[in-house]
Amino acid sequence: MTTTTDHVTTTAPSTSGASGDREVILRVGGLVKHFPRRTKGILPRADDPVKAVDGIDFVLHRGETLGIVGESGCGKSTAGRTVLQLIKPTAGTIEYLGKDVTGVHGRQWRRLRTEMQMVFQDPYGSLNPRQTIGSIVGAPFAIQGIKPPGGVKAEVQSLLERVGLNPEHYNRYPHEFSGGQRQRIGVARALALRPSVIVCDEPVSALDVSIQAQVVNLLEDIQNEFNLSYVFIAHDLSVVRHISDRVAVMYLGKFMETADRDELYANPLHPYTQALLSAVPLPDPRKEGKRRRILLTGDLPSPINPPSGCVFHTRCPKFREELSDADKQRCIGEVPQQREVAPMHQVACHFPGPATVDVVKLESVEDMFARAAAEGAVNAEDVGVPAASVHPDPTAAPEPQT
Ligand SMILES: Nc1ncnc2c1ncn2[C@@H]1O[C@H](COP(=O)(O)OP(=O)(O)O)[C@@H](O)[C@H]1O
Ligand code: SF4
Ligand SMILES: [Mg+2]
Repeated sequence: MTTTTDHVTTTAPSTSGASGDREVILRVGGLVKHFPRRTKGILPRADDPVKAVDGIDFVLHRGETLGIVGESGCGKSTAGRTVLQLIKPTAGTIEYLGKDVTGVHGRQWRRLRTEMQMVFQDPYGSLNPRQTIGSIVGAPFAIQGIKPPGGVKAEVQSLLERVGLNPEHYNRYPHEFSGGQRQRIGVARALALRPSVIVCDEPVSALDVSIQAQVVNLLEDIQNEFNLSYVFIAHDLSVVRHISDRVAVMYLGKFMETADRDELYANPLHPYTQALLSAVPLPDPRKEGKRRRILLTGDLPSPINPPSGCVFHTRCPKFREELSDADKQRCIGEVPQQREVAPMHQVACHFPGPATVDVVKLESVEDMFARAAAEGAVNAEDVGVPAASVHPDPTAAPEPQT
């Protein structure tokens, strides 16, 4: 349902972020994840939980990438894991292809796992060091009891090849690979069961810039090839801009602003988005020196006791510098709902408006990657050579001389 107040359209959460007539693959409504707090040796406390995710709504279309961006600790990973129901939602609904799948378990949950997968942030921690690459990438088949037509080994080798790794390295262990190669292994594992949706949680944040480019390009290639939909979580605004069709900006468990990528970066209307964009360093030091920044004062407040009304009011530059006392009272006392301020552009702010300073001169990610390459970040990953072959183990027996 849609109502209009003060020239602003208020949209029901279930239609949040709809774009065009494309098939909706995932619809998330009022998603909440509160963690009970634990005190040493005592049972979890139901009072004052950690409000990691506090009511988010979005839709994801087939073949689309929704970027979720925000400061560390704002609830991005929890949102991703809750959407996949790797952790149980406290409240809210998750629909997959029009069917409510919230709280499914047993066989239904396992089936859902074949459709929705995750690529994790930490390419070192997310792979079992005692398993070979073959068993890591083949695990989803074993868990689901699925036998690919040509056998698991052939399927895994073909997946390894598809993600740019040497299929002959099937029997090697994760420590023999570099960070970027391990992330490729994580991508192969996520791809194994041919899912429709992959939640990528900061998949390139731990990698060098030049290697980030390769993994981002791989994710884009397989998205096109397999018609995948991504939820792409990151704190890097340049990377999110590069890969996303739409972007949601998250703060203290809530979405502050959601819009098509180009609209969000060219015309940010929420003071938080504006502050984030103005904080991205520019590569040219002369331009950087001249630029005015929107300062975010203070740290991210605790999600155990978030500020009243608009959760951003304790750090909001607009609240601090521009609003009248009466307007400030509104920010303190009333939670702003996501409102559609332009087609497919939603903002959770009582006083949305254009930034007063130039915030959007971001270095394009292509420039960023090109700069890293020019700075000599040469690596052997292009040809899928394991790290151990590039940096031989000094304790290993010498190669026989021929
Ligand atoms: N299992 C958990 N138990 C209690 N608090 C948690 C748990 N996981 C995350 N949190 C808290 O939830 C908040 C959001 O965390 P997270 O989703 O990891 O944020 P992000 O991915 O944006 O950095 C943080 O305050 C974090 O400490
Ligand atoms: S509602 Fe008020 S405090 Fe919140 S972002 Fe808007 S202006 Fe700032
Ligand atoms: Mg995280």
